[in-house]
Amino acid sequence: MSNSRFPEGFLWGGATAANQLEGAYNEGGKGLSIFDMVEFVPKEERTKSVEMDVRSETELEELLNADEGANFPKRRGIDFYHRYKEDIALFAEMGFKTFRMSISWPRIFPNGDETEPNEEGLAFYDNVFDELLKYGIEPLVTLSHYEIPLHLVQKYNGWEDRRVVEFFTRYAETVFHRYQDKVKYWLTFNEINISTLSPYIGSGMLIDRVENKEQAIYQALHHQFVASALAVKACHEIIPDAMIGCMLARMEVYPETCNPDDVLAALEEDQKNLFFTDVQVRGYYPSFMLSYFEENNIEIEMLPGDEEILATHTVDYLSFSYYMSMVASGSPDKKREKGNFFSGVKNPYLEASDWGWQIDPKGLRVTLKKMYDRYQVPLFIVENGLGAYDTVEEDGSIIDDYRIDYLRAHIDQMGEAIKEGVDLIGYTSWGCIDLISASTSEMSKRYGFIYVDQDDYGHGTLERKKKKSFEWYKNVIATNGEEL
Ligand code: BG6
Repeated sequence: MSNSRFPEGFLWGGATAANQLEGAYNEGGKGLSIFDMVEFVPKEERTKSVEMDVRSETELEELLNADEGANFPKRRGIDFYHRYKEDIALFAEMGFKTFRMSISWPRIFPNGDETEPNEEGLAFYDNVFDELLKYGIEPLVTLSHYEIPLHLVQKYNGWEDRRVVEFFTRYAETVFHRYQDKVKYWLTFNEINISTLSPYIGSGMLIDRVENKEQAIYQALHHQFVASALAVKACHEIIPDAMIGCMLARMEVYPETCNPDDVLAALEEDQKNLFFTDVQVRGYYPSFMLSYFEENNIEIEMLPGDEEILATHTVDYLSFSYYMSMVASGSPDKKREKGNFFSGVKNPYLEASDWGWQIDPKGLRVTLKKMYDRYQVPLFIVENGLGAYDTVEEDGSIIDDYRIDYLRAHIDQMGEAIKEGVDLIGYTSWGCIDLISASTSEMSKRYGFIYVDQDDYGHGTLERKKKKSFEWYKNVIATNGEEL
């Protein structure tokens, strides 16, 4: 009998997103997406707080007119579009039970506002799902992973415009109908909380186009909440045996000290993070956000019926990404360290990755327990992992013990949380195959069990190589997390 802390049928696997993986940005009838417009900027030259944010019309124009030599890494990805069979065979060799991927919205509706989908795009995902199912790997599909068609930005200023809800619903219904027999696990918006931090990536908005920025950000978010709930409704109607969830970039926030000011600051930061899942899991805006809107003169325009839509079509499970924790201080001038999109005070008890992300396996257990207590719905960790520089040794091997250590510690804490009563249904580590970084567009920031021979400028053979962590993770899955 197994002594594993992980339940039978636990969904082990890996996670990716179309824009960081597929490449072939202008093949198969695909339209441009917002991430196709993000240029690589070397580390020394980075100036923006969120490097991938495009703010204005002029900036977008410049990117659209960039010369031939411009470096847009997400346009080339790692060429999964042409190599998916080889990659899926490697996932199968590791024993994946599930594979998280996203559908690129502009592959299906190139402009976003058409009435008829692009058959070539639909056929591509049919082939990918068939290949996964051939090996018994369940596809776990995100409808929108920062892949808004660029045309919707240009014509409607993205999610600021209510009409985008209708376009998204059409897209969601199209893929639910088409893949109803193939895909049983769905997610609506990846890291929906990014929309308040990066309006371009999260909501497809050029923020310089609007007068009242905060108002526009929350209005766009409201439209996404409604669209997400309508997608849940459609999924339940079209694929009754499917599960559909929401997705949060989870930040566990600690108070810097036991000074009540720090404790309050941490609580408030945490509420800001959990607000998104409050709406999607509980089905209504929490009172602390309503007070915040009132204090800041933000008025969300709701159509009759919106509240009912949110309340009726809540998600079946809650998924989240977890890379780091944060520290909040009650004192406003405390120096903040930069993380992914987030920043906080340095935690002296934790080490950080080469990108300054503070590594905190126990924080994952804290978060699992807290989220389960708060929501009482199944949880799914759909991203976690270590972005690191890897070295290919002379004999071709890649000894990524640091990655194994990171994952081992996090998986162990997951096991403890399950033992302590948390209903966790799966784990897909981020970037199971090296891919383009979301925040920096680097290729050299690697997360994979599988190495891809490509550098930040697109040089390389794209050859795939197994890292040491490949065999390690294979054994973790084979023993259902018993041997770490
Ligand atoms: C999450 C995103 O924010 O973190 C992924 O959902 C992203 O798309 C991942 O790749 C890791 O971030 P980065 O910037 O290291 O790629």
